[in-house]
Amino acid sequence: MSVLRLGAPTAFGKNFRVPGDKSISHRAVMLAAGARGTTTIRGLNRGEDVAATIAAMRSVGAAIEESADVVRVTGRPFAREAGNVDCGNSGTTIRLAMGLLAGRTTCTLDGDVSLRRRPMERAAQPLRLMGAAIETTAGTPPVRITRSEGRLRGIDYRLPIASAQVKSALLLAGLRAGGATTVQSPHPSRDHTERMLSAMGVKIDSRGDTVRIEPGELTAIEELLIPGDLSAAVYFITVIAMSSRANADLIDVGVNPSRVAALDVMRRMGVEFATLDEEILSNEPRAHISVAGGAPLRSVQIGADDVPNCIDEIPALCALAALAGVRLEVRGAAELRVKESDRIAATAGLLRAFGARVDELDDGLIVGEGRSLRAPGRVGTLGDHRIGLTAATLAAALASPIEIDDADCIATSFPSFAAHWSAAFGCRIER
Ligand code: S3P
Repeated sequence: MSVLRLGAPTAFGKNFRVPGDKSISHRAVMLAAGARGTTTIRGLNRGEDVAATIAAMRSVGAAIEESADVVRVTGRPFAREAGNVDCGNSGTTIRLAMGLLAGRTTCTLDGDVSLRRRPMERAAQPLRLMGAAIETTAGTPPVRITRSEGRLRGIDYRLPIASAQVKSALLLAGLRAGGATTVQSPHPSRDHTERMLSAMGVKIDSRGDTVRIEPGELTAIEELLIPGDLSAAVYFITVIAMSSRANADLIDVGVNPSRVAALDVMRRMGVEFATLDEEILSNEPRAHISVAGGAPLRSVQIGADDVPNCIDEIPALCALAALAGVRLEVRGAAELRVKESDRIAATAGLLRAFGARVDELDDGLIVGEGRSLRAPGRVGTLGDHRIGLTAATLAAALASPIEIDDADCIATSFPSFAAHWSAAFGCRIER
């Protein structure tokens, strides 16, 4: 467990880059591993979560070459047996792997203590309806998959919760089913899997809240380009937004409409920014986000319809509200309780440590109006990267130094965080 000591910001940079989008990176490695041919991936997130996906795909037979700039994945028929597959801290790795490997590979999917607390029946149950032999350990990992001869069955399934991970698991299993699979969601969730499957030649059709996939073969994409991660960009945007003289651009950030609710919330709060030079590469929109700091902010609410679209950005949005002294009410976000930490409790605890007034709800939280914050000397992360990153954001926006305990987890989504953060804000960082 390491402590990260962040000095106070001294000078803001003008152009920031963030790591590759983590969600798209997982899908790129998994889909390429199941595809015919070699996919060259640029911009892959090189954090520990995606490294877990790379290791998992190697263990079922994919050939993966890594260099500084690119990762090349060559699909091969998956191994019939793969033993223990370590998914580390990554919910996306384990849930997507459940769908990808169901019926195909006898293996045990497992992970660290945090992953071993997270619910897996939400994916296992519908996969069983498709005919997969898959068992959880009292609802959590380890998850045991047993290979079966013959195909899975296509199903029509209505998800009880809006989860892109579960939706994706079913779509990946649907690739090799005997007929079409349809998945209906109570609220829209990120559609990176659908976009990538379509780019790899699969017949997939999204209409309203329902997506339908036909079984099919994946074809490698010669060059798969991954945009920067909006979920990482929001921390920088928050610091810039809170500084009256700051003005900076985040370069090449993914702006997929199913991921940008955090930007919509920030706009409603009054943050001044523009998205520039938008283009679509590898079926994913990306743009530069140009932010002007210092605008006065106002109170807003986030409801169940918005939540899946900004689920990972809620701690940062709460930090922004607390820093600006405006009210933020988040409801319909009970899913936050089963992330890498109980993120409702963890976010409330972190903000309170900075002096904010926060009410915890069963399904969300309310950040109270008008409190002036002060950075504490040291905070913990509860092993949750997004809590560590939110702590760094609060301290930088308050122009204060901070020590973050148990900071190793930051590398799960944000490799080289110290280098990025010190380049952006001119603060000394020691481990
Ligand atoms: C993700 C979906 C979300 C999100 C997670 C990444 C994905 O989880 O919180 O960080 O890549 O599909 P759920 O689908 O479980 O809500």
